[in-house]
Amino acid sequence: MSKSPSQSVSIDLAERSYDIHIGSGLLQQESFFEGLPRATSVLIVSNETVAPLYCAQLQALLGKKFAKVLTLALPDGEAHKNWQTLNLIFDALLQHGCDRKTLLVALGGGVVGDMTGFAAASFMRGVPFVQIPTTLLSQVDSSVGGKTGINHPLGKNMIGAFHQPLRVICDLDTLKTLPQRELSAGLAEVIKYGPIADLQFMDWLEQNMDHLLARDVEALAHAVRRSCEIKAWVVAQDEREGGLRAILNFGHTFGHAIEAGMGYGNWLHGEAVGCGMVMAAQLSQRLGLVDAAFVARLQALTLRAGLPVVGPILNGTDNAGRYLELMRLDKKSDAGEIKFVLIDGPSKARVQGAPDALVREVIDACCQA
Ligand code: NAD
Ligand code: GLY
Repeated sequence: MSKSPSQSVSIDLAERSYDIHIGSGLLQQESFFEGLPRATSVLIVSNETVAPLYCAQLQALLGKKFAKVLTLALPDGEAHKNWQTLNLIFDALLQHGCDRKTLLVALGGGVVGDMTGFAAASFMRGVPFVQIPTTLLSQVDSSVGGKTGINHPLGKNMIGAFHQPLRVICDLDTLKTLPQRELSAGLAEVIKYGPIADLQFMDWLEQNMDHLLARDVEALAHAVRRSCEIKAWVVAQDEREGGLRAILNFGHTFGHAIEAGMGYGNWLHGEAVGCGMVMAAQLSQRLGLVDAAFVARLQALTLRAGLPVVGPILNGTDNAGRYLELMRLDKKSDAGEIKFVLIDGPSKARVQGAPDALVREVIDACCQA
């Protein structure tokens, strides 16, 4: 991985506006941590995988700016994105006498970011936090936009809050240590921005997928920047998902059913979203919104990214029924009607319901054991 000059994307949310910094070696540069509010203490929340890789250098750097810099390593994995693990953050904050002027720093992937953000939203009714995402998925999606939360055994991300970070720092060098399967999972959330918002970006992804899989830093920098620009544009218009923001959930309705139905952590979030995008595109085609050629294009790109495009069997006797049952728990559901993010022609999305019979056809066509 060579170096690339750093870039910034701004997210315009009035008094909650902030910058997303993207580049190599940012965790070694004090300048990216300048201008943060004075804090009585800082708690870096990471996990047992990421902390040994990056926590010491971050703690040393923040130690130059803040008198008290504490660290906490949570257990790793989606299966730990729950109340018990969240409570470990509150335990640490209270045991160390932290107060309203404490700054939380999330160092890790989307699981650490979502939980740290939720802890920041609720500790003493809200303290500031900074996102330092270390997976591709978290750099292009979860660290941006202020959605925080945890899973419930009955549904994904069911408990949470909107709480914007003060800043997002995406050091592309951290992606060097990311397992290949996790890189592919992140590519699902990159790919999604093409069909919903930017056909040129989809063309670019088709031309550059091999560079991304090889972790070419210029290609990664472009993918992270363009993804963040699109997400910032959407979130600035609809911070709390009253309407437009729901398009960012392309692939997630089917995907969340796969994640919950398979047991959290068995399919990675990005893998489930990748397969879910193909299923949502198939549904869009059956509703006459997009042609078969576009669906085939999206499926080929998803496959090239190393992602599954065939859904798992969640129930041997009524598989489609099990998907429907899980999808009714989706937060977009309205009075029990499942709302899908559908492709409404290339690079445009809409959110609407679909007849169960059609959804069953898609599930039957897309799933196998
Ligand atoms: P993750 O946080 O579980 O990280 C994936 C794995 O990579 C973990 O084992 C982690 O320890 C490891 N890891 C992280 N950084 C590493 C690095 N630099 N080197 C080596 N290993 C590293 O998963 P994720 O894919 O980052 O995030 C998925 C989560 O994000 C899901 O819970 C999903 O619901 C959430 N999400 C939230 C939003 C949002 O808007 N808040 C958006 C999309 C996804
Ligand atoms: N990841 C979807 C959203 O942030 O709205």
